[in-house]
Amino acid sequence: MQIFTEAREMTAAVKKWRASGKTVGLVPTMGYFHQGHLSLMRRAREENDVVVVSLFVNPLQFGPREDLDIYPRDFQRDRQLAEEVGVDCIFFPSVEEMYPQPFLTKVVVGKITEVMCGKARPGHFEGVTTVVAKLFHIIPADRAYFGQKDAQQVRVIQKMVEDLNFDIDIRICPTVREEDGLAASSRNVYLSGEERERATLLYRSLERAQRVIERGERRAEAVEKSIREMLEGQPGIDLEYVAVYNNIDLEPVEILQGEVLIALAAWVGGTRLIDNVLIRIDDK
Ligand code: PAJ
Repeated sequence: MQIFTEAREMTAAVKKWRASGKTVGLVPTMGYFHQGHLSLMRRAREENDVVVVSLFVNPLQFGPREDLDIYPRDFQRDRQLAEEVGVDCIFFPSVEEMYPQPFLTKVVVGKITEVMCGKARPGHFEGVTTVVAKLFHIIPADRAYFGQKDAQQVRVIQKMVEDLNFDIDIRICPTVREEDGLAASSRNVYLSGEERERATLLYRSLERAQRVIERGERRAEAVEKSIREMLEGQPGIDLEYVAVYNNIDLEPVEILQGEVLIALAAWVGGTRLIDNVLIRIDDK
């Protein structure tokens, strides 16, 4: 497995692969791999001749009071895991390589970045779209793989690709969960034993919402309430938002119809966790 740290060399390698008729799949990550990351890499492995993983903890998408400095990192471990699932190369640039100073350009997607996580983390999605746009240029792949775990990120990147005519096929992979339902996340390592236990309530509240819908509930307000009832007032859990939105333009729905995103963010102790489920309702 090859490691590239320089953008120019990475681009030259990808161009060479593509010129020789090979298809290239890109999996952008911030490292500290878990089963979620590995599922994206496996899917990319199945669908492409060459799999490139980018590993870059992107300072631009962290707020000033967020966890950039303590974000978990272990390159040797990541390298081994990637190799085991058959990744061909890792793009592992330094901050200086990605952001030569002065760095004056940003890619901004409007409106759908102003709700949900965008509201709580101002500037976060600008950081994501800027780095992902750079990665798409450095690694001109046929396909790029993202996880539904970050539902809003998926919509924001799809919109950027559509609006700016990026010539890349975005493929979305389902959320990978631990046995007890907690969505796999690099940030789960921050949780103490007790917090880890509590964190299972997040997905359980989404399961509860799904059951309520299965029984015929169609009012978004009632679905939201079923989640809030389970999480609000729980010791050690601080609910940040619950969203029952249509999955196209991320606007709140009143009556569930079509593709509906039910998403939440909550603080469990000092750790901010997100989760969501996507449901499809085709009432006539
Ligand atoms: P990171 O959090 O490392 O996630 C990398 C990719 O793995 C993202 O597409 C994310 O949605 C996916 N992923 C994370 N947890 C998952 C899970 N439990 N199941 C399925 N997929 C999961 O997301 C980022 O990095 C960054 O914002 C990035 C896109 C790399 C830009 O810096």
